[in-house]
Amino acid sequence: MANVAVVGAQWGDEGKGKIVDWLSNRADVVVRFQGGHNAGHTLVVDGRVYKLALLPSGVVQGKPSIIGNGVVVDPWHLVGEIEKIEAQGVSITPDLLTIADNACLILPIHPELDVAREAAASGRGARIGTTGRGIGPAYEDKVGRRAIRVCDLASEADLKTKIERLRSHHDPLRAGLGLAPIDPDALLAQLLEIAPKVLPFVKPAWRVLDQAQRAGKRILFEGAQGAFLDVDHGTYPYVTSSNTVAGQAAAGSGLGPRGVGYVLGIVKAYTTRVGEGPFACELTDAVGEHLATVGREVGVNTGRARRCGWFDAVLVRQSVAINGIDGIALTKLDVLDGLETLKICVGYRIGGEIFDYLPSSLNDQAAAEPVFEELEGWTESTGSVRSFKDLNANAVKYVRRIEELIGAPVALLSTSPERDDTILMRDPFLG
Ligand code: GDP
Ligand code: IMO
Ligand code: MG
Repeated sequence: MANVAVVGAQWGDEGKGKIVDWLSNRADVVVRFQGGHNAGHTLVVDGRVYKLALLPSGVVQGKPSIIGNGVVVDPWHLVGEIEKIEAQGVSITPDLLTIADNACLILPIHPELDVAREAAASGRGARIGTTGRGIGPAYEDKVGRRAIRVCDLASEADLKTKIERLRSHHDPLRAGLGLAPIDPDALLAQLLEIAPKVLPFVKPAWRVLDQAQRAGKRILFEGAQGAFLDVDHGTYPYVTSSNTVAGQAAAGSGLGPRGVGYVLGIVKAYTTRVGEGPFACELTDAVGEHLATVGREVGVNTGRARRCGWFDAVLVRQSVAINGIDGIALTKLDVLDGLETLKICVGYRIGGEIFDYLPSSLNDQAAAEPVFEELEGWTESTGSVRSFKDLNANAVKYVRRIEELIGAPVALLSTSPERDDTILMRDPFLG
């Protein structure tokens, strides 16, 4: 039995939450290993909608869930999200949820900085289009070795020392952006107030995972964002501030690389992106409108419209390589129902040259023009189809062509937002 890592293979919002929720049934533990509450994962179970940002999607099936060390944790958001999900009838107790004691915190100064920088950059046409949730500034403090970590919540003395260290870095930065200096007493009081609500969940998560692994339990890693938002491999600087690729599942949870097992890439049957940055296959015509409307492509956290475009096989093939993807879950095939002709990007034309990969330079990425191949669409509905043999011939051709172009097989196929509208072609847990 393999463990399974679920990762976004495009620019996020591929349907990771739905697939993690579905796979949770076969798993013993679910762990988030990067990102924070910039993620927005929507699950639909018998018409009931659950929107998760920080909590692992396993909680809805009542699976033991872990927020790993690689995640940045906003404790106020966390407490609010637990309350919100509990109000939907899902119990979240310290027996079920573990928060890594060595994860770093997002403090109120982080979203403030995030938003102030984006506003300042806006005037220069240099916005990233972040979620405004303080993710970048929190990771900066982490690698800058001045972050307050979850374990620090247990010690007032440690909090005081760390707040002083933060002040010396942040106050000059804040002054430059026209923000008031940090009020150390207010920040300390806020942290001391939230601490008792968070501490019951806090444990050495690496140890919980090690014990689970030794007991032969099946671990499901839940990625957030997608490969082209990865801080190394993505469309830099239009990326998030963490590694989103499958390699991070080990470092961000505290389990060694051999513990990761099967890598399942979540792939949308077309392409979307939220925020700024290059997007070669973007459509601003009626087809783009169709994808946005039928696919309900609106950001969960920020309510922003997602940009939509044709399926980009070059991008996903690259994703298969950088993640080590063993198989994919292809989602939202149903959104293509009724389109007469479908296009798939099979190469980029950049300055008169043809590329079969996305080059790293932002200038090249911005200049890339897609080279398409065309396939016939279908008029039949694929929505809620639960067996591969019930798919129409053109939909099957589309799926098979994607497999060929990206060099990875389809393990799961999703045909609606509902949990059970999922076709299993090969079980990722069987490796
Ligand atoms: P995530 O961030 O990768 O978890 O994805 P999001 O939840 O942000 O966005 C995916 C959206 O598509 C959600 O609203 C899902 O309910 C929905 N969804 C997932 N799979 C399918 C599918 O196969 N068909 C349709 N129509 N919607 C889907
Ligand atoms: P899920 O897990 C789509 C994007 C933002 C912005 C960039 C940087 O739901 O797939 P950040 O706030 O992280 O500093 O923003 O990354 N972004 C996402 N886009 N899905 C997500 O998560 C995202 N999380 C961040 O829109 O372009
Ligand atoms: Mg999302």
